Amino acid sequence: MANKVFIATSLDGYIADKSGGVDWLHEIPNPDNDDMGYHDFIDSIDALVMGRNTMEILLSFGIDWPYPKPVFVLSNTLKQAPAGLEDKIFMVSGDLKRLVQDLADKGYNDLYIDGGVTIQNFLKEDLIDEMTITTIPVLLGGGKRLFGELAEPLKFKNVNNQRYLDAIVSSKFVRA
Ligand SMILES: NC(=O)c1ccc[n+]([C@@H]2O[C@H](COP(=O)([O-])OP(=O)(O)OC[C@H]3O[C@@H](n4cnc5c(N)ncnc54)[C@H](OP(=O)(O)O)[C@@H]3O)[C@@H](O)[C@H]2O)c1
Repeated sequence: MANKVFIATSLDGYIADKSGGVDWLHEIPNPDNDDMGYHDFIDSIDALVMGRNTMEILLSFGIDWPYPKPVFVLSNTLKQAPAGLEDKIFMVSGDLKRLVQDLADKGYNDLYIDGGVTIQNFLKEDLIDEMTITTIPVLLGGGKRLFGELAEPLKFKNVNNQRYLDAIVSSKFVRA
């Protein structure tokens, strides 16, 4: 059972720029469409838990829903899955430890936790077991932060580093 983060940040730790955009994620030429470990990661999880904002940004792209696994979307304001995606997106809320246990009881043991506020909320309860952080070499100077304040430090151990496209570093950390 593991809660996993797989996310790209700027060098200064932002996951979206000042206008909420993520175009900077795709500016480095990638002629062979290297997925930088994404599909192997998706194969390693049973379901996703994401924040409402991340879901809404994905929907705004106007593409087909990209996840082959169930997506549990956290929200206190939205109670119904978007029309047409009721078999793929399931709205959830409430205590995170309880949610993780409920999902495990349903057989969803390995979870992909996505969205800045959502990841921060999981970290506040020490509920993140591993993080793969892909660093894009740009200073955005502002935007949405990946990490926020914590009551106590949380220590992680670096278990892998990969360099992609002569530009991007992906580092995997597990909770020490
Ligand atoms: N760089 C990357 O790889 C990457 C990856 C993912 C997302 N992003 C970007 O990050 C941005 C979205 O992240 P974000 O930090 O704004 O937020 P987020 O985590 O996607 O969504 C935050 C929302 O999730 C809900 N939520 C979170 N924790 C909850 C809890 N414990 N209980 C109930 N609801 C909870 C709340 O929704 P309600 O307000 O409805 O209650 C909250 O406002 C977007 O711009 C997206 O493009 C970037």
